[in-house]
Amino acid sequence: MKVLVIGGGGREHAMAWRVAQDPGVDAVYCVPGNGGAAADVSCIPGNILNPEEIASLAETLGVDCTVVGPEAPLVAGVADEFVSRGLAVVGPSRSAAQLEGSKVFSKRFLDECGLPTAAAAVLENESDVNATVGRFGYPVALKADGLAAGKGVVIARDEAEARSSARAMLGGDLVGDAGRRIVVEQFLEGEEVSFMVLTDGNAFCVLPATQDHKRALDGDRGPNTGGMGAYCDDSILSNAAREGIIERIIEPSLAGMRRRGTPFRGFLYCGLMVTEDGPQVLEFNVRLGDPETQPILYRLDGGFAELLASASRGALDPTLVTAGPEPTACVVMASGGYPGKYETGEPIEGLQAAGRLGAKVFHAGTRIAGGRIVTAGGRVLGVTARGKGLDEALANAYKSVDVIDFTGVHYRKDIGSRGLRRLAGGMSG
Ligand code: AMP
Ligand code: GLY
Repeated sequence: MKVLVIGGGGREHAMAWRVAQDPGVDAVYCVPGNGGAAADVSCIPGNILNPEEIASLAETLGVDCTVVGPEAPLVAGVADEFVSRGLAVVGPSRSAAQLEGSKVFSKRFLDECGLPTAAAAVLENESDVNATVGRFGYPVALKADGLAAGKGVVIARDEAEARSSARAMLGGDLVGDAGRRIVVEQFLEGEEVSFMVLTDGNAFCVLPATQDHKRALDGDRGPNTGGMGAYCDDSILSNAAREGIIERIIEPSLAGMRRRGTPFRGFLYCGLMVTEDGPQVLEFNVRLGDPETQPILYRLDGGFAELLASASRGALDPTLVTAGPEPTACVVMASGGYPGKYETGEPIEGLQAAGRLGAKVFHAGTRIAGGRIVTAGGRVLGVTARGKGLDEALANAYKSVDVIDFTGVHYRKDIGSRGLRRLAGGMSG
């Protein structure tokens, strides 16, 4: 089997690497990939936002299955182009990708299906702001409607902040056109869980639950990022909680998309807040999470490539993979200044030593320059390891983090600490 992975971040490196581990896979390509993916699979340059170009590339390469990593190509209609040419693809249509492409769409969909989610309203102009922004008390969540690369959510502490953020979003100053409509939403308290499934529209395969770390600094302080690390451990959700999420959120969501005539096919990511009243949907993404994918795929046993192929054929076989027995963890090493401005082109030291210590270093923002691996993005590496318990998985990841260095590097030192506290307390959500 030949597989093509679309995208160039840590998630795509992990997918490409994981597919390449499967017997029966004889070629893996990644467009555009990155400096680290190039060591594991064939990286090819290309414009992933151009559906015709990418579909033609898949035809030229003669691949059996293509999997799309990021949301932007899906919203641009890459999967539609593949389907119209009869090419096998894992990823939703442009219409189904609205679940992530528009917060207004996804909020209305959640309400239409009666799914558990925070009370909310849509703001389109100044008079909506005046009439509605205070309706949910404070703090309050303000969300830009369109894709904003992780920068579209503001948690406002009081009315003054809510009004000024809402105005800045609507005026196009904060996130451009993505903020021309906003969702204002009741603030929820609890623990966040990333819950993902792969579906062919009907059948689905539940991936093990993970927990991301969105804030830049230890102790969940500092600005929001794309994710500074994640871990995959069975303590995150009890079996009963997992079954409840499947029954009350996953199944009705997939049924709702079928009813609308836009069945969802691909990876559906539910960002959940586990509150005192049970899990509530914070957001949908129409793809795997990054960095959650790295610990999930590092843990997954079985034929991941076969699983993708079965989904792309509309005959998903969820028994092809299982969660391995050992928990896994991923620590993101980022450029100094991220998620704000940062330098690139910094040489990275210690990658081979880290690999010898047993961790897998997935590359997110790297490229090869003058025969060396240098930084090329905000999130640079995702150092991923397993262990007999969560504590050992984390220790193994940090052991490898310790031998990697580049100018300005920063990373969180408390990845997995909620999990460790939960295990120490003998509880699971
Ligand atoms: P979203 O893109 O909707 O997931 O929002 C990004 C982040 O903002 C989430 O991961 C949460 O940490 C936070 N967030 C979003 N909505 C809410 C909410 N209603 N209550 C509390 N935190 C929220
Ligand atoms: N790590 C969160 C996301 O992928 O959206």
